[in-house]
Amino acid sequence: MTDAPLRVALQQVEEARASARLPAIKTFFDEATFTATHVVHDPATRHAAIIDSVLDFDQAAGRTSHESSDAVIAYVREQGLAVDWLLETHAHADHLSDAPYLQQELGGTLVIGREIVTVQDVFAKVFNEPVSFARDGSQFDRLMGDGEAFKVGDLSAVALHVPGHTPACLAYVIGDAAFVGDTLFMPDYGSARADFPGGDARTLYRSIRRLMQLPAEARVFLCHDYKAPGRDSYVWETTIGAEHSGNVHVHDGVSEDDFVAMREARDKTLGMPRLILPSIQVNIRAGHLPEPEGNGVSYLKLPLNLL
Ligand SMILES: [Fe+2]
Repeated sequence: MTDAPLRVALQQVEEARASARLPAIKTFFDEATFTATHVVHDPATRHAAIIDSVLDFDQAAGRTSHESSDAVIAYVREQGLAVDWLLETHAHADHLSDAPYLQQELGGTLVIGREIVTVQDVFAKVFNEPVSFARDGSQFDRLMGDGEAFKVGDLSAVALHVPGHTPACLAYVIGDAAFVGDTLFMPDYGSARADFPGGDARTLYRSIRRLMQLPAEARVFLCHDYKAPGRDSYVWETTIGAEHSGNVHVHDGVSEDDFVAMREARDKTLGMPRLILPSIQVNIRAGHLPEPEGNGVSYLKLPLNLL
C-alpha cells in the first residue's frame, strides 16, 4: 500500500528525473566513525542542506575538535553555497553531531524527527538529566513529521518517518535522492541494528519496505559504511533497485518474520558502539555539550551497569 507521504516522495523522484533537475551531492566520509556527511545542493540556486555532521572526538583525552566540519565548511565556501538546512536523520549512537558548529559558521535551520522527544525522554532517564533538561525537542530549530515538505533552493524535498533503528529516524528525499540514515546500508552490508532503546526490528522492516516503494532509479545515500566481505573501499551511494535485488538482509523475497529473526539474532551478538554514551548525551542536546559546571568545564556521564 502506498500512503500519501510516500506518493509525494515517489512523484517527486519521478519529476526530478524527468526534468533532469537533480541535486548535486558531495560526501565527506569520517573513517574514525564510518560516517558519511552529505552536502546536497541545488545547482540552479546554490542553496544547500548538510546531512549528518561529525564532531571529532578523542574519547581517551576527552577532547573535541572540528577537522571534519572544517573540510565541509571549506567546500561550502569554495562552492559559494548558501546553507539553508542542517538535517539530522536521527540521534546517532556512534558519533557526535557537529551541527551547532556548522550552524555558527554557515547558518541553516537545524532539523530532526518529531519523535526525538521520545528519545530524549528515554535517555534523560538513563543519564538522570536535571529537570531543566528540556524533553520537547526545543534544542533543535524544527521538528519534522512524516510527509513534511520543504525546499532546498528550487528542489522539492520531503521527510519520511522511518522508525525501527530508533523511534525518531527520518529519511529525507531531496529531488531524486533519498538520504536514509541508518535504515538501509549498502546491499552487500544489509541493515542497521534495531536493539537500541525504542528500536524494533519489525518496525524497521516495515520502514525499509516503505522506502523500497520509491522508484528503482532513486539514488540512496547512507549514513554509514563499514566495507563488506570482498569489498575493500567505502561506498555510501546505491539505488532503490540495487537494494531490492541485492540487499543481503532485506532483498525482495525476505519475509518480515525472517528479517526479524535474523536481525534479533544478529543484534544479540553486537557489543555497544564505542561512542554510544558520549554520543547520545550530546546528540539529544542537538550536538551541544552539557552545560559547563561551576569551573567552566563540560562533563559527560558514564552510567555504570545500566545499559
Ligand atoms: Fe544510527
